Amino acid sequence: MKCKSAILAAGLSCALLASMGTAQTKDSKMMALIARGKYLVTIGWCGDCHSPKIMTPRGPAVDEKNVLAGTPAAMAVPAIPDEVLGPDKWGALASMDLTAWAGP
Ligand code: HEC
Repeated sequence: MKCKSAILAAGLSCALLASMGTAQTKDSKMMALIARGKYLVTIGWCGDCHSPKIMTPRGPAVDEKNVLAGTPAAMAVPAIPDEVLGPDKWGALASMDLTAWAGP
């Protein structure tokens, strides 16, 4: 009986250690994926267009409290002037914070 209990305890210890190792590997893989995503979003400048801005003494800057939040729901987007955009015309329009765009 003692022998069976010792084997059971050893087996549980091995299983616990193995699961701890697996969890650590999964965590480090997840951390690597998150770091890779942060790198791609940084070099792609995604936040420049997909984050609202705040005005600072040095000009507009990404609102760090709302990174990648898109156009603020409360922001009024002005109407697009007639005859500005179309398949036979050039250009695009953007809101001042670059979170809202219109174009052909
Ligand atoms: C120069 C401005 C600009 C930059 C920089 C930018 N985007 Fe966008 N993004 C837009 C615009 C404008 C649209 C909407 C396009 C449309 O509707 O035709 C859009 C659309 C998207 C959509 C689709 C959203 C939807 O609801 O369909 C995703 C996802 C997206 N962008 C991700 C990214 C990622 C990731 C990056 C960085 C790698 C990035 N964008 C960089 C302007 C930008």
